[in-house]
Amino acid sequence: MIAIGSDHAAADLRKIVKEYLEDQEMPYIDCGTDESPSDYPVIAKEVCKKIQDGEADMGILLCGTGIGMSLTANKMKGIRAAVCSETYSAKYTRLHNDANVLCMGARVVGSGLAKEILDAFLFTEFEGGRHQRRVDMIMELEK
Ligand code: RB5
Repeated sequence: MIAIGSDHAAADLRKIVKEYLEDQEMPYIDCGTDESPSDYPVIAKEVCKKIQDGEADMGILLCGTGIGMSLTANKMKGIRAAVCSETYSAKYTRLHNDANVLCMGARVVGSGLAKEILDAFLFTEFEGGRHQRRVDMIMELEK
């Protein structure tokens, strides 16, 4: 299950991402928002809570730059959020960082690139091995 959310700056991209997930037959929980203006920390918190509560395995957070969402998401326990605006980072943050939240900026990426970034992020598995130890070191900082 994927939890998805955006602020007002990325409402159009959220719609496109939902259509993409439907095409891929990937179930999702839409945490909104359709409010404008809106505050990205509220949405980031809601999406990350779904992961913390075990209702979702992954999250997609969208705002103007993707940065506000990622800053907020990375404050939450168990969350490893990565802002990606190209496919290489999206692939490697899964392979090496086991990122569980993808953040994108609607004012940064177009819809075509966003879908390619989603492909890279959602269809790449964590490599484990030596990377697990490093991810564990990140998570140690939460204690
Ligand atoms: C909203 O104007 C904008 O600040 C927000 O979408 C995001 O880019 C923040 O990081």
